[in-house]
Amino acid sequence: MTGECVWFEGIPFPSREFPSGHLREVQENFLIKDEDVLLLTYPKSGTNWLMETVCLIHSKGDPKWIQSVPIGERSPWVEAFRGYNLLKDKEGPRFITSHLPVQLFPRSFFKSKAKMIYLIRNPRDVLVSGYFFWRSAKLVKKPQSLEQYFEWFVQGNVVFGSWFDHTRGWMSMRDKENFLILSYEEMKWDTRSTVEKICQFLGKKLEPEELNSVLRNSSFQAMKENNMSNSSLLKGQYLEENGELLRKGVTGDWKNYFTVAQAETFDKLFQEKMADLPQDLFPWK
Ligand code: A3P
Repeated sequence: MTGECVWFEGIPFPSREFPSGHLREVQENFLIKDEDVLLLTYPKSGTNWLMETVCLIHSKGDPKWIQSVPIGERSPWVEAFRGYNLLKDKEGPRFITSHLPVQLFPRSFFKSKAKMIYLIRNPRDVLVSGYFFWRSAKLVKKPQSLEQYFEWFVQGNVVFGSWFDHTRGWMSMRDKENFLILSYEEMKWDTRSTVEKICQFLGKKLEPEELNSVLRNSSFQAMKENNMSNSSLLKGQYLEENGELLRKGVTGDWKNYFTVAQAETFDKLFQEKMADLPQDLFPWK
């Protein structure tokens, strides 16, 4: 997968969006402000769902903003060249998205009071979602088979690096009060409670009808129908015509794709890499 990548501190990034020297600039010079809200994920963990939800919480359930401004402009990716430029001169509190691993994140964050939400997802589903996405993306070398992508993923030979390193890195922040860990699984299984948790973390009070509207407008179906959020704007330049950001939107889809041997290999690897972390951080077990 790392064929068309630039490498920065041992991690590959798609060269198209990450010109040489840019990631160093982001790390050293991007200024995070106390009032910013940061949305952090490993790719394919439900990033866009979290972005949509947080935008709707901000607008108190009013869908006007999410239906008129592309999702990547509402909460730009700080590490991407375009996102960085959108964010740099933006006044007032900002929503900022990122897939960066902790060691490459703008240093100013670690001295700030900015709130950060880190969304994790069962890495088996991340793998399957990633396989279908990168197969139809025009950014990096496409995987030829799930078998091939499985090997790349378990070796960490994918853009933004190893899921295990990314997750371990950000989890080290978990005791900080400006840091909230959520999972895709809890968002799926109890969306209302998760949205309430986000509201509480961000200090936002919503009326019951406003909360209902957040839930309605951030549902899989609503996002799929919203051209500002469903990746249709990425087609042509970044995605093939058959590419879909909103593919299935379920938990446990990996069971439809992994062989028994792959499932065993993955279990063993997960155990090796993550056994020392509190297992209640991983609700899919
Ligand atoms: P699948 O490929 O398993 O369907 P990201 O935004 O980090 O790229 O993650 C994409 C994954 O999140 C896709 O998973 C997509 O379907 C899922 N997703 C996006 N919006 C969602 C929503 N509103 N509800 C449930 N899943 C959603």
